[in-house]
Amino acid sequence: MCLVANMLPLGCPLPRCQEKCAAHIHPRRSNAPCRPLAGDPGDHPQNPRGDPAQLVIATTAHGVTPSTFCYHCYSVYTPACGPANPVVLGRERLGSLVVTVLPQTTGALDWLDEAAAVRRTAGLRRVLRPRPAFEPVIDLASNDYLGLARDLRVAQGAMRAARTWGTGSTGSRLVTGSTELHSQLEDELAAFCGAAAALVFSSGYTANLGAVTALSGRGALVVSDAASHASLVDACRLSRARVVVIPHADVAAVDAALAARSEPRALVITDSVISVSGELAPLAELHAVCRQHGAVLLADEAHGLGVRGTGGRGLLAEYGLIGEPDVVATVSLSKSLGSQGGAVLGSRAVIDHLVNTARSFVFDTGLAPPAAGGALAALRVLRAEPALPGRVLDAATAIATAAGAPRPRSAVVSVILGTPQRAVDMATECLRHGVRVGCLRPPSVPAGTSRLRLTAHAALTDLELAQAAQVLAAVLAGAVR
Ligand SMILES: Cc1ncc(COP(=O)(O)O)c(C=O)c1O
Repeated sequence: MCLVANMLPLGCPLPRCQEKCAAHIHPRRSNAPCRPLAGDPGDHPQNPRGDPAQLVIATTAHGVTPSTFCYHCYSVYTPACGPANPVVLGRERLGSLVVTVLPQTTGALDWLDEAAAVRRTAGLRRVLRPRPAFEPVIDLASNDYLGLARDLRVAQGAMRAARTWGTGSTGSRLVTGSTELHSQLEDELAAFCGAAAALVFSSGYTANLGAVTALSGRGALVVSDAASHASLVDACRLSRARVVVIPHADVAAVDAALAARSEPRALVITDSVISVSGELAPLAELHAVCRQHGAVLLADEAHGLGVRGTGGRGLLAEYGLIGEPDVVATVSLSKSLGSQGGAVLGSRAVIDHLVNTARSFVFDTGLAPPAAGGALAALRVLRAEPALPGRVLDAATAIATAAGAPRPRSAVVSVILGTPQRAVDMATECLRHGVRVGCLRPPSVPAGTSRLRLTAHAALTDLELAQAAQVLAAVLAGAVR
């Protein structure tokens, strides 16, 4: 049965009769509400003159689509995939029905071309550039701060895990995806950082989603630093909590938000080391304010682990905060530890709660054993070589000096250049001279602050550092083109 034909006193005009009018569920260009029609077409506010119902037919590569007629409100919508003001090829009367014929469209995703054009014009187009296994380039772009991603000991840890446990974890952590290897990694990670317990997730991203959503929820307040990583931002969006975003590192604003709250529960979230700038969050002050107001502090140590704190135990450990009952840390295993995955560190009660309620833990396949084995091996290397983090900070200082940036307090050096194009041009120029640098543009950073993100690595040799410094200084001075 065709609803269009059913409603109108004529047979269905379409070559292929559709079972239902799809228009009603399509995104509409008109903001007018679509309401079920009461009475005649002329009663409807969108059709005051009682014009005959119209049907727009847009031909597509797959034939005719009648998806632009809403039989509820007698409105005609241009196809969601088509242009806002479509070229009308012609109109025909079929009994009481006016059929408008639009030019052929290629399909429902035509708007992607428009969006891509907007990105191109704004200098915000991203493309993937797969790198070869070996290339004669100095790396100042990756998050492999300790140079462990290709360390043989770490690779062997991953290989051993693959041989023992297989390539995949085979299921959710709650079903078959927890192995003894996962438990071992959790125990050693918690012990290393000084937390009571840890829970491994499939990524740092899912660790943040899980921790924030499970520790907040409806009826809670989440106070988030404006510079929080996108995964924390997305976690806020998923949390259903009331979210207050405070200016970056504004402890007084956190204090005010917590003091003014009516919610019984509150969570304050921040990167410990800001991912795009390398700045340190004022964790001690934030924790004092949290303690005063009975809130929990959650710090994302993705860029703190392996770089800050004694032997790389993280910024929370450096401030003596890890292990406090109202402190939760999240970490990524994909940066200093050179592997893949993430973890939440906190009290046993927190971890037990996450096991039971964190949706990105429960409904996700457990971390693949080779990644867990690699991360565990990397953690052991870090434990055995506590000087590694110091080497990273020394390298960061050399890089910052060459780039004319302030003295860094982490592995990340940020050189703000302004427009996306300027940042892209400089990054391209650096690469042309053998130095790969990170290039951040909106939405990764606020508009007008596109920048180079330069990362230091413990494995950089003096010669590499000297070469990189020379290139950076010359490119940033505009001396090479
Ligand atoms: C601050 C921060 N948190 C979380 C993540 C996500 O970690 P992962 O890459 O392990 O998913 C990142 C990664 O870019 C990050 O920079």
